[in-house]
Amino acid sequence: MTSQHDVYHFRDASDGSEWWRSAVIYQIYPRSFADASGDGVGDLRGIASRLPELQDLGVDAIWLSPFMTSPQKDAGYDVADYCDVDPIFGTLADFDALLAQAHARSIRVIVDLVPNHSSDQHLWFRQALESAPGSPERNRYIFRDGTGENGEHPPNNWESIFGGRAWTRIREKDGSPGQWYLHLFDSSQPDFDWSNEEVKAEFRRILRFWLDRGVDGFRVDVAHGLVKDQDFPDYTPNPDSASMGGEETPAPYFEQVGVHEIYRDWRLVLEEYDGDRALCGEAWVSSVDKMALWVRPDEMHQTFNFEYLLAPWEASELRSIIHRSLAAFSAVGAPGTWVLSNHDVIRHATRLSLVEESPQGSGIGPDFPDVPSHSEFLPRAHAATALMLALPGSAYLYQGEELGLDEVHDMPPEVRQDPTWFRTKGHRYGRDGCRVPIPWEAGEPAFGFNATGRSWLPQPERWRSLARDVQQGDERSTLSLYRRLLRLRKQFGMGQGTLEWAAGYPEGVVAFRNGDILVIANISASPVTIPADARVLAASMPLSGHQLEADTAVWLELQGDI
Ligand code: GLC
Repeated sequence: MTSQHDVYHFRDASDGSEWWRSAVIYQIYPRSFADASGDGVGDLRGIASRLPELQDLGVDAIWLSPFMTSPQKDAGYDVADYCDVDPIFGTLADFDALLAQAHARSIRVIVDLVPNHSSDQHLWFRQALESAPGSPERNRYIFRDGTGENGEHPPNNWESIFGGRAWTRIREKDGSPGQWYLHLFDSSQPDFDWSNEEVKAEFRRILRFWLDRGVDGFRVDVAHGLVKDQDFPDYTPNPDSASMGGEETPAPYFEQVGVHEIYRDWRLVLEEYDGDRALCGEAWVSSVDKMALWVRPDEMHQTFNFEYLLAPWEASELRSIIHRSLAAFSAVGAPGTWVLSNHDVIRHATRLSLVEESPQGSGIGPDFPDVPSHSEFLPRAHAATALMLALPGSAYLYQGEELGLDEVHDMPPEVRQDPTWFRTKGHRYGRDGCRVPIPWEAGEPAFGFNATGRSWLPQPERWRSLARDVQQGDERSTLSLYRRLLRLRKQFGMGQGTLEWAAGYPEGVVAFRNGDILVIANISASPVTIPADARVLAASMPLSGHQLEADTAVWLELQGDI
């Protein structure tokens, strides 16, 4: 386990190259960020209008969840045209303008690439339906004959991540019941066949399309899922485990060794371009040792540390995952990529204070017990962020966490939109609770999300007091804390820094040095004394003297040898 003598060093990126090793990257969920058109769904012009606020926050890059042409059956993760912008978000010209404006503010831009599946409205899938079994058009996807006397049963027992079966039967052109196609997600999201060279060539083309426009990289959706076990064996997942994988014995559609070849190929494409472009993988695999396989030197640059995201608020667990992450990633020369929230999980402000757990992707609803209120969860939410942003490596933030937003568990059932909710007939709530449009100005319609007051998911009234303009200038606000942490992190080079465990603290405390900064997070229930002769740079909650209360983290500047 953790040894007090481990020191993890990261390559210096101070010349601006390899920016991704230490960058703080802010995830924008375009539907819910800012809506210039006023139709109730956010858009690219809305994002461009809020770049000054992002610059003020101090982020290095933004990741945009999908804004490409899509029927929006899975909020844009069902792409019908990979090289165009969906009209609800704007136009390619709007994208170019946003990219240029972000770059002018020294903010890099990463776009989301969804290679596991397309929309059923993609030209290729429509052609597949029009063509005969075994045709080149059909072989771009995973079509199989059914089992049973007349092919009336699916090819195997695989279940969709969103619930229900992972196969749908089509009608052939002559109207007869036909083959089945695989969709790990919604039936509107058919999986590509990645053993097909045409699919590989098409994605190289798509990468180049966006690289030519000047994007700084890609977040790669379901990066562990593209290749399937070609025997298509039956498989029943553990019902309590995270829906997106993470089993010790992987599902036959996740973590197949063949995926790595695809990213080696993509890495070569990125290296044709100047400007240090990066790939970040969304690979829900069970341990950081496995995650490290995605960031070997000739593969991706980053992979989200989901084991960290899923870790409970418990000191020994946190020390263990931090230690194991840095060991696993530095062994392959990659940075840690820390994350606490995104558009698929319960917002961490709420999640870390829940008494009962809800598996990833299932969400929580009005019947969930003991959902904490803002004042109840705030100290822990702040401490968790102060701890994460002190770690060397890169970190991702999800829009709204800088305002201390909670999971909206109490939205009425009729407004829910996540396919998980429909496919499980309301058994799993899904992810709408973390996707509600964020509040900017307390006194404006839709709290400044747009000028019309429309909102594709309703905003809770309690968010009025969390609007950005209310927090701006309030030294004790969540927004001020995030701004301060990001400024200090940059000033002291903590992203490019080192981690050395600090000895002498109680079991319930996570304490380490990152360069000249001593970071102490009190995860226990009792107060802890902090060194009297160190300068407090940041505290997640106001301090009383040299006491660090429960659920509080502090960054101290060491003066002399402590
Ligand atoms: C990823 C996305 C999620 C989406 C799924 C299918 O997990 O993050 O939002 O529903 O892939 O594309």
